[in-house]
Amino acid sequence: MATRRVGSLLNRSFTSASMFSKGRSSSVVRGIGKYSTDASIESPISPSVKVNYTQLLINGQFVDSASGKTFPTLDPRTGEVIAHVAEGDAEDVNRAVSAARKAFDEGPWPKMTAYERSRVLFRFADLIEKHNDEIAALETWDNGKPFEQAAKIEVPMVARFFRYYAGFADKIHGLTVPADGEYHVQTLHEPIGVAGQIIPWNFPLLMFAWKVAPALACGNTVVLKSAEQTPLSALYAATLLQEAGLPPGVLNVVSGFGPTAGASLASHMDVDKVAFTGSTDTGKKILELAAKSNLKTVTLELGGKSPFIVCEDADVDKAVEMAHFALFFNQGQCCCAGSRTFVHEKVYDEFLEKAKARAERRLVGDPFKGGIEQGPQIDSDQFEKILKYIDYGVKAGAKLETGGERVGTKGFYIKPTVFSDVQDDMRIASEEIFGPVQTILKYKDLNEVIRRANNSRYGLAAGVFTQNIDTANTLTRALRVGSVFINCFDVFDASIPFGGYKMSGIGREKGIYGLSNYLQVKAVVTPLKNPAWL
Ligand code: NAI
Ligand code: MG
Repeated sequence: MATRRVGSLLNRSFTSASMFSKGRSSSVVRGIGKYSTDASIESPISPSVKVNYTQLLINGQFVDSASGKTFPTLDPRTGEVIAHVAEGDAEDVNRAVSAARKAFDEGPWPKMTAYERSRVLFRFADLIEKHNDEIAALETWDNGKPFEQAAKIEVPMVARFFRYYAGFADKIHGLTVPADGEYHVQTLHEPIGVAGQIIPWNFPLLMFAWKVAPALACGNTVVLKSAEQTPLSALYAATLLQEAGLPPGVLNVVSGFGPTAGASLASHMDVDKVAFTGSTDTGKKILELAAKSNLKTVTLELGGKSPFIVCEDADVDKAVEMAHFALFFNQGQCCCAGSRTFVHEKVYDEFLEKAKARAERRLVGDPFKGGIEQGPQIDSDQFEKILKYIDYGVKAGAKLETGGERVGTKGFYIKPTVFSDVQDDMRIASEEIFGPVQTILKYKDLNEVIRRANNSRYGLAAGVFTQNIDTANTLTRALRVGSVFINCFDVFDASIPFGGYKMSGIGREKGIYGLSNYLQVKAVVTPLKNPAWL
């Protein structure tokens, strides 16, 4: 339900009216194509929300960090400070873990009936809906994503996630096992304990939901570290969870940086499990910290370079729109972005012309303004990284069809960019750019595109655009990826498992599969008759 809305909303309602005003933008790399700067970029709209929560949430209380330090969270539209947020470090993580430990070992959460736990999560979903627009505004302000995307898709999906997992809370049960011998054997599915969760900035609140909802539904307690670029929505959501009746210490939120707060959590001896979403490089560090400390179990959702394959029989107009959505959605800042657009040679020229025209029609502007499809990138690091990749592409000989430079003079806006004549070994075709840069590659036949699509260290997702069921089935089975989207993309209902093959990660989140990350199995063996030795 919510998933269909992602595609339809973004593909229909965000593509029509032109919101651009006249005027040239400044050049950073080099720019071609017909763009003008939306006036809203130069005079940002004031968000209609206040920042009320900036401290750390530990044991049900908002507190300053032990060091007293704070860090600024910035508005990507301008680079200006929104608020100063308490900066958690090892000492704060220790306190948060102690609170979570106590809430698990002694506290009410794992001991509450599963029905009571589910009711807290259901009440939270209601509260999220009640505060939908406020929380969406906070998300847009901190992250730069279009408000309509946050308010109509992402925040409603958060409620959907919590209801999905709330429904499981009282349906988690083990098996009766037909073991050999005179024994009755049953399995108990128990919570793991204290879960450490480290989330990224591209979907701050959705990542909160992906992580927190299954952990709590299964009876775990949590210490969550939000991304340093986007700490605000997790703090807000945590207060709503408390209002819904979550006992103190069950969810603790520590804002702060990766190498300090994040690494302390991943290496903590009293954390039983760590779940992480972010870059592959940081994922490797997390796995190492877990191994070197207490061998806590690890789930990782990492990077990608997902192929989007347009077959020779595809309806080109529809394929262009879907491929555009697959790459440009959320400013191109998606782990599963369809960032290698493989197009069959028969339709390549037509596709390229239309893909370029579509990118030039993309509405870039203040994310608070209605109808805007693309806001700023998250921060100056990402902005610079993307422009650097555009430069690599040009220098490697790919053809810059359109875009390639910043939009406006403020903030971190980048023009929707399209490259053609891209070769597999170019950096823009093999490394994660995480920005609004579409790379279009030509192919001749199915076996060739399977080989090329699989020739990546990543294996997160793939898009397949075809009307031929044989082609769809062949590609589905041949592609070494965790999700295949046929004639659609980014369908993210709570029930659909998500995760990576190869270096895109370990484990699956969402759906029924997501529960196993937060449960462990205990085998209980009882003799059928009192044994002779008793
Ligand atoms: P990152 O992977 O470093 O950051 C993600 C989270 O990990 C943040 O909460 C961060 O504070 C934390 N972290 C960083 N270093 C850590 C450490 N040593 N120990 C524990 N936690 C740590 O990603 P970053 O720097 O924000 O972005 C770099 C690139 O990563 C992006 O350009 C993009 O390619 C990729 N990325 C992928 C995401 C995904 O959804 N798979 C999300 C964000 C970034
Ligand atoms: Mg921010």
